[in-house]
Amino acid sequence: MAPSATTTTEAYTLSYDKIKCVDAALGAAIDYGAGKSKQLIGAALKGRVEAIDHDLCAVGDEDAFFVADLGDVYRQHMRWKKNLARVKPHYAVKCNPDPQVLRLLAELGIGFDCASKTEIEQILNMGVDPARIIYAQPCKTKSYVRYAAQHGVKQMTFDNADELYKTKQLFPDAELYLRILTDDSASLCRLSQKFGAHLDGTADLLALAKNLDLNVVGVAFHAGSGASDPKAFIKAVQDARFVFDQAEALGFKMHTLDVGGGFNSDHTFETMAAVLSEALDVYFPPEVRIIGEPGRYYVATAFTIACHVIARRTVADATLGTTSYMLYLNDGVYGNFSNIIFDHQHPIPRVLKAGDGMWYDVRRSGYETPSQTEYSIWGPTCDGIDVISSSCMFPDVLDVGDWLYFEDMGAYTKCSATRFNGFTDSHDVVYVCSEPGAGALLGML
Ligand SMILES: Cc1ncc(COP(=O)(O)O)c(C=O)c1O
Repeated sequence: MAPSATTTTEAYTLSYDKIKCVDAALGAAIDYGAGKSKQLIGAALKGRVEAIDHDLCAVGDEDAFFVADLGDVYRQHMRWKKNLARVKPHYAVKCNPDPQVLRLLAELGIGFDCASKTEIEQILNMGVDPARIIYAQPCKTKSYVRYAAQHGVKQMTFDNADELYKTKQLFPDAELYLRILTDDSASLCRLSQKFGAHLDGTADLLALAKNLDLNVVGVAFHAGSGASDPKAFIKAVQDARFVFDQAEALGFKMHTLDVGGGFNSDHTFETMAAVLSEALDVYFPPEVRIIGEPGRYYVATAFTIACHVIARRTVADATLGTTSYMLYLNDGVYGNFSNIIFDHQHPIPRVLKAGDGMWYDVRRSGYETPSQTEYSIWGPTCDGIDVISSSCMFPDVLDVGDWLYFEDMGAYTKCSATRFNGFTDSHDVVYVCSEPGAGALLGML
């Protein structure tokens, strides 16, 4: 069974066994870190696909599966601490509620950004103190607010007057963060079209909160998911200072700034972090607590997915005298490749297994041989929109039974998969761990 948001403890135990097997098979002579990560992931992918005979296997045995390196998540946390020491991360559960990732992050002592009752419950069920959770959804379901109140999850965001009346009725002791609008035009997924108070309305909102005797303690913003312009963070911090001052003038004891998510895991992180840190130090004195809600930053690179070629169509062009192929995989945009639609991603297909040959981690240049063949890559459903790549080149003639893999598939993938056409939204995760620190925290060593 696939570990997922509803995975049982028994299923976790099975996954740990797999981790130990992979480690043992590789031996002790391997360096820890990114290099080991590749070796562990490669061994896990290879071990699994080599065990599947698509001519004989049971229904679904050849389903797509993930390999997750928890060591990668751990390294991202260390990188955060090094570059954004002042900002206490609250992982955005929505991005990937994988139970082992959550367990590791809980062990690392970070907080959690939850958007619904189910996410709050999942975190509380791990024994996490409710004070480590922020219910960061400015427009909440009433019964969920009651649930948060019953379970002591006090921190929550708001950005409009109706939400204040709702809070007064259901949870008057809540600790409120006023979410403000940002310029998120340079981000992949714009959030300010939907959430965030305009600065010309914040004074009225704060006055209403005061009249209702509510407890505003902070300001929150989100620069947009996949933010690419550091200047957006500077402007947001300046705006947050403006609203802090407004609130303090009304007598609120403001103690926390929430800088949201939007951080990427690529090389832009260090620049983004440096710009944000400087702005924070300029505008907010050290006694102000700073939290963040990173999602994709923590998990994007930790997950690799392997997909099976279930069908192939030969496309012969008589005019040009060329032959290309349409490959149909057992996962697509209605499944784990939902990130193509919802998150504007372009996952890169790579050959994992062609015939009897294993191709994991062969450099792209290895594909660039004179005998290239063009492919388009499709998902398994009936819909024409279900395309993963409209054109890519591989040297070998791939066929039914071969496998492709895609890296960087940890953010906004399986959490937004559907069961359209009757395909499963539950896929196995094989866990590996390339960092002994993470292994120790999870009791895997
Ligand atoms: C309120 C809130 N916080 C945090 C996040 C996580 O953003 P990211 O994955 O870009 O870090 C999101 C994403 O939608 C969000 O809506």
